[in-house]
Amino acid sequence: MEVTLDDVKNIVRTLKEYTDFDLTDYSEKSLKRRIERIISEYRMNPVSIAHQIKTDKKFARKLVNEITVNTTELFRDPQMWYSLRYDIYLKLKTHAKISIWHAGCSTGQEVYSNIILMKELNLLDKAMIFATDINNEVIEKAKKGEYRYRLNFEYLNNFDSVVNRHPLNYEVNRGVSYKKYFDIDRKNDLLKIKEQYRKIPMFRVHDLIKGEQEFLTKFDIVFCRNVLIYFNFNLQKRILRMFRKNMNKGAYLILGYHESIIEPMEIGFEKKNNYYVAI
Ligand SMILES: C[S@@+](CC[C@H](N)C(=O)[O-])C[C@H]1O[C@@H](n2cnc3c(N)ncnc32)[C@H](O)[C@@H]1O
Repeated sequence: MEVTLDDVKNIVRTLKEYTDFDLTDYSEKSLKRRIERIISEYRMNPVSIAHQIKTDKKFARKLVNEITVNTTELFRDPQMWYSLRYDIYLKLKTHAKISIWHAGCSTGQEVYSNIILMKELNLLDKAMIFATDINNEVIEKAKKGEYRYRLNFEYLNNFDSVVNRHPLNYEVNRGVSYKKYFDIDRKNDLLKIKEQYRKIPMFRVHDLIKGEQEFLTKFDIVFCRNVLIYFNFNLQKRILRMFRKNMNKGAYLILGYHESIIEPMEIGFEKKNNYYVAI
């Protein structure tokens, strides 16, 4: 069923009026695509969706969860992890404490990738890791740290490329076994992060749009990868300003591999390689 922009606006307006969710500044194109998918899956129409939002809180929450795109993977875009491994963490090595925020962490693979890397670099003891997402279902999955094994086979290639090999020297193989971090159950198609690493991050439901608050800690690294693309330009800017406010000077902002900030200096960031530094 074709959904018009007026339908999208009406659903967003109803959500804003009847719930805590304000998707006004989400990109309309992406909202339209997601709502069309929901309509065909739930066999509903834009009018019945708006009506149910008004009367059924659980449905509204489910709808927001369905609207968000949760694609993620372990060591997604290995080049970014090379920058962390061979550049950023070398600079943070002397810090007594390293505070990290994964904003829009989805089902947690990004968080566990970082934990694995920090462990390999002997930095994990200094880490304070906070991981948030608007979607309560993905946060529950992240806490479990349990993923399909076969579906995520390429995870282990990414693991090897970041943990075991050196990007400039193919003779290097550090020989770190998957067993150090995962329990792999091939029969039940499961790859589970070991308990001692699952205990480290603080996973919380948090909506970036209501993110005007200041955190108690100032962060040394903020990961916000493949999240801002779903927002319009003004909302992106507002969230980037909020990040800056909650970061130490010289802290690092990691966006998605294909994302960038227009006029970063105006917000208080400087672009370096494939990341941003708070100035
Ligand atoms: C495509 S995933 C990115 C996951 C991970 N950062 C990565 O790059 O692999 C985008 C995530 O942003 C979350 N998100 C969308 N809107 C949000 C908001 N207003 N506040 C917090 N998280 C949000 C979604 O629920 C989703 O899990």
